[in-house]
Formats: sequence, C-alpha cells, structure tokens
Amino acid sequence: MRMVDIIHKKRLGEELNTEEIQFFIQGYTTETIPDYQASALLMAIYFKGMTENETATLTQAMVDSGETIDLSAIDGPKVDKHSTGGVGDKTTLITGPLVASVGVPVAKMSGRGLGHTGGTLDKLESIAGLTVELTKEMFVENVNTHKLAVAGQTGNLAPADKKLYALRDVTATVESIPLIASSIMSKKLASGAESIVLDVKTGSGAFMKTVEDATSLANAMVKIGNNLERNTVAVISDMNQPLGFEVGNANEVKEAIEVLQGKPVADLRRLALELASHMTVLAGVFDSYELAYHALEKNLDNGKAFEAFKAFVAAQGGDVAMIEDVTKLPSAKHHLEVTAETEGYISEIDAEAIGIAAMFLGAGRAAKDDQINYGVGITLHKKIGDNVKAGEALATLHYDQKNSLDDSHNKVKGAFNISTTPVDTKHLIYKVIK
Ligand code: URA
Repeated sequence: MRMVDIIHKKRLGEELNTEEIQFFIQGYTTETIPDYQASALLMAIYFKGMTENETATLTQAMVDSGETIDLSAIDGPKVDKHSTGGVGDKTTLITGPLVASVGVPVAKMSGRGLGHTGGTLDKLESIAGLTVELTKEMFVENVNTHKLAVAGQTGNLAPADKKLYALRDVTATVESIPLIASSIMSKKLASGAESIVLDVKTGSGAFMKTVEDATSLANAMVKIGNNLERNTVAVISDMNQPLGFEVGNANEVKEAIEVLQGKPVADLRRLALELASHMTVLAGVFDSYELAYHALEKNLDNGKAFEAFKAFVAAQGGDVAMIEDVTKLPSAKHHLEVTAETEGYISEIDAEAIGIAAMFLGAGRAAKDDQINYGVGITLHKKIGDNVKAGEALATLHYDQKNSLDDSHNKVKGAFNISTTPVDTKHLIYKVIK
C-alpha cells in the first residue's frame, strides 16, 4: 500500500477503506509516513470530508495507536462527560458528585487547562491537600467506595491524535468536523468510557460559533459513539457568555459548591442537571430523563450531592474544612470593580475576552509550565438581559499583583455591550442529540 494512492483517492472524494485508514494512522504514529504526506491527506479530508464509516474507523485507529484504560475493576456502568470547553465551565465539579449521589460510578480522567483558566484538575487543586495523582489501585478503590474519583490523565492515550492535532494546528486543517469529532472521541474511548455525554458549546466563546456547526459536530460524535458501540448523547449548550458568575479557579470551586448546596445559580444548575440526567439515564439508573432530573434536583436540595463531594474531597486528601466554609479557599488580596459607563441592558458578554482577562490576572496558563494563582479571578455581576445603571459594577477583578491589571480591566470592560433597549436572555440548551 502506498500513501500517495491514499491521498489521491481522498482527493477524488472517494471513501477510504479500513486498511487504508489503519495504514495511515499506524504509519504516521511510527513515523514511517512523513509530515508532508500526512498534511496532504488532512487537507484532502478537510475539503472532501469523511463518511460516517470512515470517521468511526479513523477514531478506532487512533484509539488503537496507544494505550487504553481498563476500567473493568470498577463496579457498574462507566459513564463519562466531556465538554468542548468554555469559560466559567465548572459543571464537572457538580455533575461528578451529583451523579455519584445516585450511585453511578464516575471515574473521571481529566486534563489541565492551557489558556484562559485552569482545567478541572487545577480548579480542584485549589482545595489544600487535594491530590489528583492517584495510583491506578487508588483510583479504582476510590470509585468503588465513594462512586467518584478524579485523576490526571496517565499513559500514552491516542498518541496518533496528539501528533495529528499538532500537525493540523500548523496546516490550517483544525476546522474539519470529521477530524475534530474523531480527535475528541478517540481520547474519550481510550480512557475507558462505556457511555458518553457530550456538552457541545456554541457561541462567541466556543470553538463552534453557530448552533448549526455545533449540531454538525455533535451529530458526527454521536454517530462515532454509536458505530463503536458506546451510547452517546450530545447536549448543545450556550457559550455566548461565561457559565455562572465566577471565572477563575478557587472562585469556580466556591460557585460549584454553592450549586451542590442547592443555590439557584440559574444557568449552571440547569446545565449540570441536564448533563447529569443524561448520564444517569445512560447508566440505566433511571428509566426516563424526567425521573432522573427530578431525583437529581432533589439531591442538590437535600445535601446528598454535597455529601458526595465532601467524601470525594476527603478521599483525595483535600481539606474538607475549606469546602464546608468556602471563605477558607484561596482568595486574592485586592479587588477592583469594572463599572458601566452607560445605563441600559447587557446585550453581550464576550466569554473569550473574560477568559483572557482572567488569565492576565494569573488564573490560567499562557505557557505549559506557568504556575496558576488559585485565588485570582473574575466575578460577574451582570448577565445578558440584565438592566444596569451608569456607574454600577459589571464585574469584580480579584488580583494579587498590579502587572496586567490594566489589560485585564480593559478586556473586561470591552467584553460587555450595553443596549438602550431591553434584550432577551440567551437560550441555555439548544438541543439534545441522541
Ligand atoms: N479538541 C480536540 O480535542 N480536538 C480537536 O480536533 C479540536 C478540539
């Protein structure tokens, strides 16, 4: 088999067969296929697309390119959740204990954030003592005992994806639905999930700017899941403004705890319940979405979800006193309000700009080895549709050092748009694809 013939076939828009896709992935992983030929094929895929079969085969070939995590020692159905990424998205901190509170095991392998704010691991590490470096034995034992464990990703999962993603980044081939879908799903499958709930974000702060594009990506991922015998559900949710009011690390943990204690943070509670409901239905614990939603809502309000969070934090060495009294979580020394210059209604909050402003304060990493400052971040006081008076606070910056404070302030100020006429609030959940 020759790579040049595979490129030619795809350039003509024909369907590649399993052997051809495996030849490409194996050859590229073991470096017998050079970057220039892989680039040519990626560009042909970008223009000609891939069929459902090709996309599933590509995903499986990327899973097979490295190690896979075996979760068979964990009792019960293994359900995972994945978000395509958004600002202020702390839903994993809520869905994990919430799903665990009805007895469904959550074995979560997570990543660190590169960019705006920390990832789930960074947010959790703002709780003193909490470790995400678990041995495989501890990880399994904690899930079996407490129904929830969160650990850093170990092992060489889907190395083909890692190499291809880096190549796509420099060959203008990232924005291809079959390539994005197979990239995300290969990592989920390699980490052992049996069922997967995908939170596909759409809007100005998301990778997919329109509901139409988010729907295409969600459809492609659900089809991969179904083709590879993983029950998969995708929820398309809004990222035209940050989720909840807190953006950072410790302050996001605090907001997640408040939701776990029943506080009605409207969008965050609603989305967490939506995702957790689908997770528990896929796990077979509830017969319907409505039953799941009702039971889970009860567990937010009766303290069971928070109890599950506490047990998880204690099992991973975290200081439980900090989550029982959130004022003990790391916090910044100084605070600065960003105020509105005109009266009106909030019509836009550029989520990406808020994320970048939080990173300027030290809440995220600009480079891989940067240290995160857990206490800094941004609190929003207004969301889209809210009325605001001139001089009223739109947001508060929590900071320790003055360098980049002006940049952060300007970024947040510029993120808000104020209209003179009333503005409708945004949809939170656009659709669910099964
Ligand atoms: N995230 C991924 O993991 N892969 C892509 O291709 C795009 C976003």
